[in-house]
This record gives sequence, structure tokens and C-alpha cells, in this order.
Amino acid sequence: MIRSLVLATGLAALSLPGHAASFLTLDGDAPLVIAHRGASAYLPEHTLGAYELAIRMGADIVEPDVQLTADGALVAMHDTSLARTTNVETLFAARNGGYDVSEFTLAEIKTLTVEPTGPAATSYPGFTPGTAAPFAVPTLREVLDFVNTHNAATGDKIGVYPESKTPNRSELSRKIVDEMDAAGFTGADQNSYIQTFSHDGALEIALYQAGLGMDVPVAALGAAVGEPGAFGVFDFTTSTISSLETLAGFAGGVGVTLSSPSLNADFIAAAHALGLEVHGWTFRPTSIEAARTQFGTYFALGMDAVFTDYPDLGVRVRNELTAPVPLPASLPLVLAGLGGLAILRRSRR
Ligand code: G3P
Ligand code: CA
Repeated sequence: MIRSLVLATGLAALSLPGHAASFLTLDGDAPLVIAHRGASAYLPEHTLGAYELAIRMGADIVEPDVQLTADGALVAMHDTSLARTTNVETLFAARNGGYDVSEFTLAEIKTLTVEPTGPAATSYPGFTPGTAAPFAVPTLREVLDFVNTHNAATGDKIGVYPESKTPNRSELSRKIVDEMDAAGFTGADQNSYIQTFSHDGALEIALYQAGLGMDVPVAALGAAVGEPGAFGVFDFTTSTISSLETLAGFAGGVGVTLSSPSLNADFIAAAHALGLEVHGWTFRPTSIEAARTQFGTYFALGMDAVFTDYPDLGVRVRNELTAPVPLPASLPLVLAGLGGLAILRRSRR
């Protein structure tokens, strides 16, 4: 009942004047905003420019999906193919009928330019990238080094959230862990995670890390399914369901699609009871009003982190909830909360 009261009146109703809202996240802290492929609604995805803008917008974490090149380098790239996001087709002939990352060397990929897709553009008002090649395809190490350099210069604790993509997932996963190790992203206190859609692959990452003495939380991706007492995450790679109890044996969190059939307060509470964070993807609100609805709904449910192409909007909504509520502005919210409590008390009689 208390949970439904929270949902009915909104998080701010829990705030007393001068106090910020409390959250139903696993640790009680404000939810984290993950820049999905960087600030990918604004600049070419998976580029240092998009990551830099995301950090400037206040994102807590930047997300590089990761693919393996023909010569075994790790690059930030969502697709198996280079064709959708780069100018590869203007510079190279197709190989084996296509433009797979795995068919090109890192030196070749470094000659490409990442082009904007969707609502993104080649520039953002008032933003001048600080890196030499902001729209080249970066290696994972370049992304990690960029974040480390930013953190060292500012005292920020921006995290990274690499995803091990297919094909070659096992080799790729080990190399991602090795790169995280080499760059100093080794622990559970760095706002950082490693993710993959394969739940067997997630276990493999956890075991490989353990062998290196690392403890970066692993997030198993999929869809939230089931019901109270029998919640799980659907593994799209095997069409099987892993129970939350199984995932809690090795993972630090689950990353679930917003179209999950069972992504609700009970699912999140059940995950939290097992020590699992719940991260949701992918938030794409195109206005602050839509952002308040979309992020606000899942923040109220206790979601721990949100993947979004619009990190500025995620940060803005989160900050609106964390800012102390001034007395005059808070009065209606306090009264709404008191009204809810009165209804609650009546319903218990
Ligand atoms: O990793 C979470 C989310 O990014 C999964 O979707 O396809 O954008 O990698 P995708
Ligand atoms: Ca991803």
C-alpha cells in the first residue's frame, strides 16, 4: 500500500520542505543516468564527441557497445556491420558481401568517420569537442582513457558500461575485462558495469574477473518476465529464462527492456531483495514533459539506472527530484501526500 501511495503521489510527495526526495533504489541513492552510446540523440553515436557531450550534460556513466576488429582490437560500435553508422561504403569495397567490423583492421577503421543517425547531427550548439578526432571510431581503450582523464582532471567519478556484443563473445568479453583491468576499472565502487545479452556470457565474465581479482558488477540483459515469487529475465540469445535467484549468484544487476512484460514495482523489489540492481533501456523522450513522465515513472518504481540517448533530460528529471523542495512550492506536494495518507488510513479501517 505504501508503495502504491508513492506511485500515486510521486516521489516529491515524500519530500519534506528543505529535504530532497528519497528513492527506492537498491542503495537508496538517486538513480544513475547512463549515456546510451554517448549523447547519441545529439551527436554521432559511440564517438568521443558523443561521450564528451554526455559527460558535460551530467551523465554518470557512458556506454560503449564493443566489437572486435579483424586484427583483434576492441572498438566502440553497436552493429556487427560498419555500414549504418560510418562512411565505410564510400571508402571501401564490400568484403564477403558486407562491411562487418570483423573484416576490417583497426587501421582501416580509423580512416572512417562516424555519421549521425536518427535525430543526431554533426554538431551541438555551444559544444566544441576537446579531442582531436571526435567523430572517428574510438577503441575501447580510448574511451576508458578519455573517462580516466576527465575524472583525474575534475574529481568526477564517471563510470563506463561496456557491452560485449556478438560474434566472438567469449574472446571479446575476456578482452573487455583485460582492458578494464589495464585502465583501472576493477572494482564495484566506480559506477561501472560490464554487460551482455548472453546470461552464460555474463557468468563467464564474472568468473574471468574473479580469476583476476576484479569485481566490476556484471549486468545480464534481457526482458523482465514472471510474477511475484517467480520473476526472471528472458535471455534473447537462448530464448530461455534465468531466475533472479540464479542471476543473483553471479551478477550485480539486470538490464531490462522497457517493453518487458513484468517490469513493475514487484519485479524491482524482488531483484533488490536479492541484491540485484535493475537498469532499464532505452529511454528516448523528446521533450522535458515526456522525460518527466518516462523517467519519473521508473524512478518512482525504484529503478537504479536508466540507459538514455538523452542524458541531459534524464539528468534534469533526476535533479528535479533530488533538489530540496522549497517551502512555498512544496506545500501542495506535502498536502497531496497528507491527503494520500488520510485515504490510506481510511482504507485500513
Ligand atoms: O545495453 C543496453 C541496451 O543498450 C541494449 O540495447 O541494442 O542498444 O545495445 P542495444
Ligand atoms: Ca548496449
